[in-house]
Amino acid sequence: MNRVSIPDIHEKYEDGESLTMLTAYDAPIARQVDNGGIDMILVGDSAGDNHLGYDDTVPVTLEEALSNTAAVDRAVKNAMVIGDLPFLSYGSSMEESVKNAGRFMKEAGADAVKLETAPYGETSIEIIDRLTELGMPVMGHIGLTPQRMNQIGGGYIQGRDSENSTTVEALLDTAQQIEEAGAFSLVLEAVTEETGKRVTEAVDIPTIGIGAGRYVDGQVLVITDVLGLSEESYRLSKQYADLNSIICEAVESYVDEVQDGVFPASENVFDTIDKED
Ligand code: KIV
Repeated sequence: MNRVSIPDIHEKYEDGESLTMLTAYDAPIARQVDNGGIDMILVGDSAGDNHLGYDDTVPVTLEEALSNTAAVDRAVKNAMVIGDLPFLSYGSSMEESVKNAGRFMKEAGADAVKLETAPYGETSIEIIDRLTELGMPVMGHIGLTPQRMNQIGGGYIQGRDSENSTTVEALLDTAQQIEEAGAFSLVLEAVTEETGKRVTEAVDIPTIGIGAGRYVDGQVLVITDVLGLSEESYRLSKQYADLNSIICEAVESYVDEVQDGVFPASENVFDTIDKED
């Protein structure tokens, strides 16, 4: 079976079907996310604080992001795999941006790439234009853009016309420029529900929201939040399982059984002559 393609995404969008996306950073989780019937798997730079043990997304290197993407690619059969360009892997020059984005598709097996755009961010809009001209499907990302967290100063909701927020107009203009540059879809992160609705109405490509309310074309969440592997919980997210407790119980049982001599048992050991060998 072929993976979900750009035309498949557009068909679902045209039919008014809600699109689904989750992040994954390694093969075992990506396999289960894929088995769950998701449309798109984002190998997000949220790997920084959800997989690699950094405080945020800023330290994630190109090589780490490529390695995560390749691991996900090896495990996924059906979903579209989207590689997320990490901080400063794009933007320093067009040549470097094209080369680095190309590595996600040529070396890591991504079907598309995603990059963040600041309000009116000319540089990344030009990059989207160039990448799409060269045949790389690009997903945009506006609203709260975590790679600019040092500038923004915190996880402030965007599109609120307040001091720590960019204006709705800036988000609308930027979304339209990203669409004109050729992006096939757009992530809207941490914006008011009204802003999510207005941006969705203003563009003719699917908007994928995370903390963008109900009137967008699809939703994305970070897998560690969904599975209960995070240490914090967020209003914009929802936990669907409690893997922290399940893993902790499994480890405690293993420790107890090893200490009590219950594991390994006779069925786990090898005899000199064994029919099952
Ligand atoms: O890196 C990531 O996980 C993301 C999503 C929050 C959209 O960019």
